Amino acid sequence: MSKILVTGGAGFIGSHLVDRLIAKNHQVAVVDNLSTGKLRFVNRRAKFYKVSVTSPKLKQVFGKFKPEIVFHLAAQKSVPFSVNDPLADATTNIWGSLKTIEQSIRVGVKKFVLISTGGAIYGATKIMPTPEIVAPKPDSPYGLSKLTVENYLLNYYQPLRKLNFVSLRLANVFGPRQDPDGEAGVVAIFVKNLLANKQCFITGNGKQTRDFVFVDDVVEACLKSIRAGQGIYNIGTGKETSIKVLYHLIAGLISKREPKFVPPRPGDVFRSVLKNALAKRDLGWQAQVELVDGLKKTIKYFKA
Ligand SMILES: NC(=O)c1ccc[n+]([C@@H]2O[C@H](COP(=O)([O-])OP(=O)(O)OC[C@H]3O[C@@H](n4cnc5c(N)ncnc54)[C@H](O)[C@@H]3O)[C@@H](O)[C@H]2O)c1
Repeated sequence: MSKILVTGGAGFIGSHLVDRLIAKNHQVAVVDNLSTGKLRFVNRRAKFYKVSVTSPKLKQVFGKFKPEIVFHLAAQKSVPFSVNDPLADATTNIWGSLKTIEQSIRVGVKKFVLISTGGAIYGATKIMPTPEIVAPKPDSPYGLSKLTVENYLLNYYQPLRKLNFVSLRLANVFGPRQDPDGEAGVVAIFVKNLLANKQCFITGNGKQTRDFVFVDDVVEACLKSIRAGQGIYNIGTGKETSIKVLYHLIAGLISKREPKFVPPRPGDVFRSVLKNALAKRDLGWQAQVELVDGLKKTIKYFKA
């Protein structure tokens, strides 16, 4: 049993992670400012601090709880928001992350796990599935801020401050509790609209692809990172699914209605799929949940 602090633990992915950590009898504290997270997602057995990672109060939380392991998920996660307000993005995603890292070092954590992005870090590349060695070329401040924090960890905190870290570059995560009202989270959006018998929209011709990984598999990768791994790992299925195929899979499980095609969004990458061999080798991790099974679980959640 360890003392584990999860920033962003009231959010979609963070709340699932907290539930699993508690089920494994760890002592868990959540730091979340509830900007997009929900109090009702926070496990009752976790200690909850409504604190921003940018706040001076963060120091007190770390001092009081003294975590041995930190999972850092708190973030501004909207790509369009970051394009419109790069300073606000950097405040949370760079400054807030560095503050969290500094506090982690101050209390002597054994492992720091950053939740990063695969989808927004590589940019347009021809190498598919994309391995970690491909030079990142983020095309948004959001991707840049995640990459910047990874670079601090890799080139400063690990070698000079001896911080043991893992950064997980997640593919497109989906599952219960994902916010269907955001601009991301296409699975949640399609499921919500189809359940309400509403029209769904697909940008472009729908042949653009993504790597959809179920939230339980992501949580499993987080758990493996407690004891294994050092450095940066892609967390994806390695399988490419087009938005059109995804739509028809979901519609087939809910109600078969045709989507409406609308003009493509400028700047969207056409293909995205992550190579996951490194995570398999070092973390002993592989995605277990088939897309259709994850979709069924997600639909069940949204129905309830
Ligand atoms: N969902 C995906 O497909 C995906 C893909 C790649 C990476 N990620 C990363 O995973 C992490 C979790 O994302 P999510 O999809 O669960 O989104 P989410 O918005 O549900 O979770 C983020 C959480 O961070 C909290 N938060 C935001 N700013 C904060 C601050 N300043 N201080 C404290 N808490 C703050 C929010 O209230 C929320 O609970 C993020 O770091 C995100 O960048 C997500």
